[in-house]
Amino acid sequence: MGGMSRISRRVGAITESATLAVDAKAKALQAAGEDVIGFGAGEPDFPTPAHIVDAASAACVDPRNHKYTPTPGLPELRAAIAAKTQRDSGYVVEASQVVVTVGGKHAVYNAFQTLLDPGDEVIIPAPYWTTYPEAVKLADGVPVEVLAPESAEFRVTIEQLEAARTPRTKVLLFVSPSNPTGAVYPRDEVEAIGRWAVEHGIWVLTDEIYEHLTYGGHEFSSMPVLVPELADQCVVLNGVAKTYAMTGWRVGWMIGPADFTAAAINLQSHQTSNVPNVSQRAALAAVSGDLEAVGEMRAAFDRRGRVMHELLSAIPGVTCLEPQGAFYCFPSFDGVLGREIAGRKPANTLELCELILEEARVAIVPGEAFGAPGYARLSFALSDDALVEGVSRIAKLLTG
Ligand SMILES: Cc1ncc(COP(=O)(O)O)c(C=O)c1O
Repeated sequence: MGGMSRISRRVGAITESATLAVDAKAKALQAAGEDVIGFGAGEPDFPTPAHIVDAASAACVDPRNHKYTPTPGLPELRAAIAAKTQRDSGYVVEASQVVVTVGGKHAVYNAFQTLLDPGDEVIIPAPYWTTYPEAVKLADGVPVEVLAPESAEFRVTIEQLEAARTPRTKVLLFVSPSNPTGAVYPRDEVEAIGRWAVEHGIWVLTDEIYEHLTYGGHEFSSMPVLVPELADQCVVLNGVAKTYAMTGWRVGWMIGPADFTAAAINLQSHQTSNVPNVSQRAALAAVSGDLEAVGEMRAAFDRRGRVMHELLSAIPGVTCLEPQGAFYCFPSFDGVLGREIAGRKPANTLELCELILEEARVAIVPGEAFGAPGYARLSFALSDDALVEGVSRIAKLLTG
């Protein structure tokens, strides 16, 4: 093999998805009979609504779905996604602008592959979803982190974006409601950021996957709707996973201008061809139906988020912003680090989370995975009882 490494440097440099790793560890312990409560995964605990599952069952026995279909998705699904986008966010797009992907994660990867040349910089507000910087690096781009502090409710400012901008800045990654912080940008800030991007010719990849999950007075707004001039340099990313409890079906999409879409379809034609037809038919039933099921889930998440926030905030040394959207609390454990807990003194949240898993049998994701050491992410997309029991176990361990 000469001087060649067995695994490519590009892929060898990827770090495992910490959220999936924590979830896998918790599930493995559960399978071994351990009583572990998992706050790791970002997926609704509800089953996929019955009418969606029925559509998929019917699709299985329809021979049309046994064959390859167009790379960017079934024409009726692309049209339904365009219609749903207009209904839900007010963004008016053509079906031809939609590319159906194998989940939103695939859309993130393909969007960066389509937009970036080596050395192009992508501004990523931190704390960030762990996949964004890896997807940028896999496209030979350079992630540029901009830290949105807890004191600013985890939102970046135009001043910060401006300070991070260089002649190589090609894309801004924007997500609201945010994973992992649950932050929701108010309308005027979304608009200001969109205007800043237009002014400087920067693309925006805006991840709208949590559009329907906001709480209290917080409301989602779509950047290209508030700033229509952005449309020519904007990619909207979305999917059925969070809205319809369909994480396992693997259907997402991206919506962009014509040249972007054409290039992304070429890429996908050599990569995955079409997304499995049965999943596309399920997604078609989902996006063409109403929003009743997500309304019910939202009400449950709203209640659970408030309970979790209250329980976490009551732990000495832990501070926690009330979640504004998505389904995560993102507390700071700064006041806990360095203290003696079960005979050990965790110096950082990686060590603390390990200790919590070992001693309290509760799985949470360390902030290091999201570019925010000192914090941890807890999903509140699990049953009320498990949620209370899990946070109580953490409280008991940390208060000795
Ligand atoms: C912010 C964000 N975007 C996109 C996704 C992608 O979801 P999926 O690939 O399941 O559609 C997730 C999933 O965790 C997410 O949290």
